Amino acid sequence: MKITVSKGLRGTITVAPDKSISHRAVMMGSISKGKTVIQNFLMGEDCLSTIACFRQMGIPIEAKDNQITVTGSGLRGLRAPQEMLYTGNSGTTTRLLCGLLAPQNFSCILDGDASIRKRPMNRVIDPLREMGAKLIGTEGDCTPIAIEGTSLKGITYVLPVASAQLKSALILAGLYAEGETTIVEPKPSRNHTELMINGFGGRISAEKNRITVSPAEELFGHAIEVPGDISSAAFFMIAGLIVPNSEITIRNVGLNETRTGIIDVLRSMGGSVHIEKTGSGIEPSGDITVKHSPLHGTEIGGDLVPRLIDELPVLSVAAAFAEGRTVIRDAEELKVKESNRIDAMETELKKAGVDVQSTDDGLIIEGGKPLHSGVFETYGDHRIAMSMTVLALAAEGTSTIKNHQCINISYPDFFRTLDSICT
Ligand code: S3P
Repeated sequence: MKITVSKGLRGTITVAPDKSISHRAVMMGSISKGKTVIQNFLMGEDCLSTIACFRQMGIPIEAKDNQITVTGSGLRGLRAPQEMLYTGNSGTTTRLLCGLLAPQNFSCILDGDASIRKRPMNRVIDPLREMGAKLIGTEGDCTPIAIEGTSLKGITYVLPVASAQLKSALILAGLYAEGETTIVEPKPSRNHTELMINGFGGRISAEKNRITVSPAEELFGHAIEVPGDISSAAFFMIAGLIVPNSEITIRNVGLNETRTGIIDVLRSMGGSVHIEKTGSGIEPSGDITVKHSPLHGTEIGGDLVPRLIDELPVLSVAAAFAEGRTVIRDAEELKVKESNRIDAMETELKKAGVDVQSTDDGLIIEGGKPLHSGVFETYGDHRIAMSMTVLALAAEGTSTIKNHQCINISYPDFFRTLDSICT
């Protein structure tokens, strides 16, 4: 894909539906009684992997445009899959399914692509084993993972990392366990699972950093409308801020506070980011307007990190265009995402002339120098591909984004939407 420096990005868009909420809606709908109709479902490859897994377990799931109807089988109605469950590139599918499948009354095998096979699964397997689960991973507890369904008991578990995937796996297992399951988070991570369990009639409470889920007798399907994904909106927010002569409005974006760290940081860098709240359901949403702004460097660390973990690659692009130094710390989790995002961004930013240095837990970027085009690798990682596209829009010349197809993981319409606002 060739990207030429832009003269301005202007217009009103919607972005890809929220990936985290789409996954969870299919999972919760599948183990609930009755129909769950999901409007504005993300038809990206990751969420299609989740749908395929539940179809293999006997759940009827119909798709029409981007509306999905899941006919749930109730808490105990999943059937043993005849074949291995393939989770593709999706960490959310793999980890949440470990928790959901551990207490079923059948055995199965989970596997994913080459990237998933490298990602740490022991963080999920260890606490599930404490609950009594029988999971056997491959070489250091990676996928393929064999799961022999068995009964579980509730535990209290202090998470060693702030991970919504790990937290959610334990919550889903907790729905089936004997007694309560309590999870203590080191830092607040996205809480879509907690909100959704409440919506489906489960019992879950969250107080400060302690989440307690009670075993459920039955959950009940209902209608869900998925807002736009703030992690996808982030690419257009930053493109609008760094490309001169830009003004972009992004309609109907999810504004759950556990996800809005990107807005806080961009404002602290001097970015013009205006929010108009429109939806106030359990998952708040609204419109975001950004205007080209001179940015300055900032520090990103601590509790902010889980609130913008997926936006850090594109935030490092914003930092490259911001005057002065930006320090990203406490972000070692970036090393175990779809690629090692610290190394990937250091290497690719350097190709464009950015003064950037990786550290053990982040990046230090001296921004504000004019940048030039390049031939950028994506490491098969959708967020690296979109981040480098955003950089290319504001770097002199014409850049090449290699293997850009990985963008289909989370944002199949990314280039169409970008085209619609190019002036
Ligand atoms: C996700 C949680 C985050 C995020 C991922 C989606 C989720 O991962 O990076 O893209 O849907 O729960 P971790 O929970 O592993 O940090």
